Amino acid sequence: MADKGGFAHYMLKEIFEQPQALRDTIAPRVSLEAGVVRLEDVHIGSEELRALRRINIVASGTSRHAGMAGQFMIQTLVGLPVDVDYASEFEYRNPLIGGSELTIVITQSGETADTTAAQREARAKGSRTIAISNVVGSTIAREADGVIYTQAGPEISIASTKAFTAQMAVLFLFAVYLGQERGNLGKDQVRGYIRELLALPGKLENMLRSAPDCERLADKYHQVQDFLFLGRAIHYPVAMDGALKLKEVSYVHAEGYPTGEAKHGPNALIDESLPVVIIATCDRDDSGSVLRYERNLANIKAFKQQSGRVIAIATTGDEEIRRLADQTIFVPATPELLLPILEIVPLQLFAYYMALRRGLDVDHPRNLVKSVTRE
Ligand code: AGP
Repeated sequence: MADKGGFAHYMLKEIFEQPQALRDTIAPRVSLEAGVVRLEDVHIGSEELRALRRINIVASGTSRHAGMAGQFMIQTLVGLPVDVDYASEFEYRNPLIGGSELTIVITQSGETADTTAAQREARAKGSRTIAISNVVGSTIAREADGVIYTQAGPEISIASTKAFTAQMAVLFLFAVYLGQERGNLGKDQVRGYIRELLALPGKLENMLRSAPDCERLADKYHQVQDFLFLGRAIHYPVAMDGALKLKEVSYVHAEGYPTGEAKHGPNALIDESLPVVIIATCDRDDSGSVLRYERNLANIKAFKQQSGRVIAIATTGDEEIRRLADQTIFVPATPELLLPILEIVPLQLFAYYMALRRGLDVDHPRNLVKSVTRE
């Protein structure tokens, strides 16, 4: 308990450490006054950054989900095409990589064998690499041209939580940095993004107050054996990670799907026995987000007509979703690209309390290790 700072498990402690992890990751790298993001260890000059034609992101598990969110951040803020690969699949697809491409490897531990191999493959093909890692001096960080450390502090629990939100914060910082260095973003725009980033830890702190709601959800659903997690666009990786957390700590089968794909197959499964967790937040200042929100509303109505049980993650104050869904957990209003950093928190808590209710060893799920150092 001493090591765990009074928390029953490392997973819960690490979930609650997220506001501090975000502060430590963001604050030292931004100047609101100057309207500048500084990433000193990137070690790739502005000229080379301006010449980039494509970015590859490779990672495993939860780190890859962060990469999927990063794809939206970089494409939206910088206008560069971004591919995301499973590190374990990277070499099999014989990636066509050239010198004008950058490969970003994301890894909490910095020691994952699949990710190390993918980084070596990218380097052998002439790509520069940047590592996003939580461990200073790890193998992957040492072998990269540049590195951006997540300052999340040691992550002990096998389920990755605070490293994930810190990785997404770093990817957003990198997207803004790239936009600034390539001349896509002016100082006022950079200032606006910095302001939003700096507001995140406080919002996340507020979200942690919803822990008792997540506990009640687990009370209600802990005997259920299958879940479907749905999200569109940048919220799809959140659905994927919510499903992964549930699988690994509570041994409950959960699938993450893009919401629009439900009608292409999974819909056949939806009835009272398969609860649907749907990410249905909305950034009212973003027309794309509003459109996706309208579609989500229609989806929720259709799931209810099929007697489905719906758990929604929605924006604070959204009474319409609260009326439609069986249970709703609220997320404070935030720009679309940063919402995943908040949306994942109730899903982490839900997975934690589900494992607890099912009497499982939350920090050490069977058949898993913290750092997968063998291929
Ligand atoms: C997530 O909760 C996992 N335990 C796992 O998917 C993990 O993210 C993956 O093995 C990658 O690890 P890394 O970030 O240390 O490379």
